[in-house]
Amino acid sequence: MHPTLNIAVKAARRAGGIINRASRDVEQIKVSAKRDKDFVTEVDKAAEAAIIEVLKEAYPDHAILAEESGASGDSEFVWIIDPLDGTTNFIHGFPQYAISIAQQHKGVLQHAVIYDPNRNELFTASKGAGAFLNERRIRVTKRAKMGEALIGTGFPFRYFEHVDAYLGIFRDMMHKTAGVRRPGAAALDLAWVAAGRIDGFWELGLSPWDMAAGALLITEAGGLVGDLAGEQNYLDTGNIVGGNPKVFAQLLQIIAPHLNAKLTA
Ligand code: IPD
Ligand code: CA
Ligand code: CA
Repeated sequence: MHPTLNIAVKAARRAGGIINRASRDVEQIKVSAKRDKDFVTEVDKAAEAAIIEVLKEAYPDHAILAEESGASGDSEFVWIIDPLDGTTNFIHGFPQYAISIAQQHKGVLQHAVIYDPNRNELFTASKGAGAFLNERRIRVTKRAKMGEALIGTGFPFRYFEHVDAYLGIFRDMMHKTAGVRRPGAAALDLAWVAAGRIDGFWELGLSPWDMAAGALLITEAGGLVGDLAGEQNYLDTGNIVGGNPKVFAQLLQIIAPHLNAKLTA
């Protein structure tokens, strides 16, 4: 394993310990709302602090872009961190959430870790070196027919600007696929595309920390990711599509009639 990835794994496992301990008594966890329906707990903050401490110890000069504490530092190397993806699930004791850590160099994703502390599943990837689940190689599915494909998504829940476009896409997906799932942790959904548990995924309105690690996992597992137009601007637009290459192309076809200028800008 690349030494940088090893440090990211150490950080993710440290955060996983904090999250697992707190999950034994979710009733005790103090929850505050950053904005309407945007919850943060002391656990998100403690997990993020632990991750940053591990990363900074190894790489004091690297920049950070983290969900709870924001952007800091100025470097060619940037760590993109979601300390707890799926906070709403976590608060409810719904065991589907993860830690997501990615490293970019000059804007190119290099390393990715997504750690599911409930299942003790560690998803890792380094650019050009493949994707792994608990050190075993993972690949996207080979499924080609949309009628047989299982697709993940995330529902809009805070900003409803694109809800009509989303529901149009959703209606077509219901008709054309074997099923649509909304597990509730985008980073883990992307990791599951990489691991071949779902054939594809789409969601609108995400943040870079929801997508960065999962995107590298998918491409290293032989899949494709893009924005709604199939271009590479998903970290900027917040809209992402991913899947095995055949499903990816068909997801874009299903989405295309619902696009408007705002969704691709
Ligand atoms: C959220 C989860 C969810 C997605 C939201 C994200 P958070 O992240 O990934 O699945 O639908 O858009 O904000 O806030 O729990 O880290
Ligand atoms: Ca998130
Ligand atoms: Ca989060």
